[in-house]
Amino acid sequence: MIGLGFTTAERPRVGALYWAAFRRKLRAGFPDDASGQAFVTGVLRADRMLVARVGGEVAGVCGFHEGGHGAVAFSWRELRERFGVRTSLRVSAALAPLGRSEAGGVLVLDGVCVDARHRGRGIGSALLAAAQAHAATRGDREVQLSVVDTNPRAEALYRRLGYRVVGEGSMGVLGELYGFRRYRTMRRPVAS
Ligand SMILES: CC(C)(COP(=O)(O)OP(=O)(O)OC[C@H]1O[C@@H](n2cnc3c(N)ncnc32)[C@H](O)[C@@H]1OP(=O)(O)O)[C@@H](O)C(=O)NCCC(=O)NCCS
Repeated sequence: MIGLGFTTAERPRVGALYWAAFRRKLRAGFPDDASGQAFVTGVLRADRMLVARVGGEVAGVCGFHEGGHGAVAFSWRELRERFGVRTSLRVSAALAPLGRSEAGGVLVLDGVCVDARHRGRGIGSALLAAAQAHAATRGDREVQLSVVDTNPRAEALYRRLGYRVVGEGSMGVLGELYGFRRYRTMRRPVAS
């Protein structure tokens, strides 16, 4: 049910799912919803996503960082060609604080989301188990994710799955822009 990557035909669906779940975070900087979703959909990296399917249809995804890239990866050139310099500067500035740096021995996740129609059936948990298996193949010790202060249900799920808070951060003045002020970084050991 869960595999690495998505097909070209699945890209629009994966993009729509990712945008619906993280729209509030990603929207900052883009001129409007449609152009933001189209751009993010176009730059999603299939090789940085674990994908869950139900009845052959994409039902959930879990991005991760590897080799310097997360699930949403784009160059300044791609941005500038699409939006021009002014808007590109704004998008870059708005998205920069969301970049998660990689740490040695730790698989850093980049957004887990499940289609609203399929939530509460274990798909999110299965995606996180798949992430753990992926971390094990890389020889990592831990898996890391972030959760915003406006998402207590997701945090409760992560705690149940063995994640513990290892740090907290603030979006500072950008909190208004993103719709959340604080986030927590959580980790769990790969083996346990
Ligand atoms: C969080 C999420 C990935 C969980 O996926 P899932 O397949 O529903 O998870 P599971 O079925 O394995 O586990 C169910 C648990 O997920 C959490 N959950 C369920 N619906 C949720 C929702 N709409 N938002 C946040 N968490 C939710 C709850 O802890 C739930 O347990 P509960 O019903 O006892 O409260 C999914 O709900 C989702 O995509 N939410 C919107 C995007 C998001 O918040 N992503 C997390 C960013 S850190």
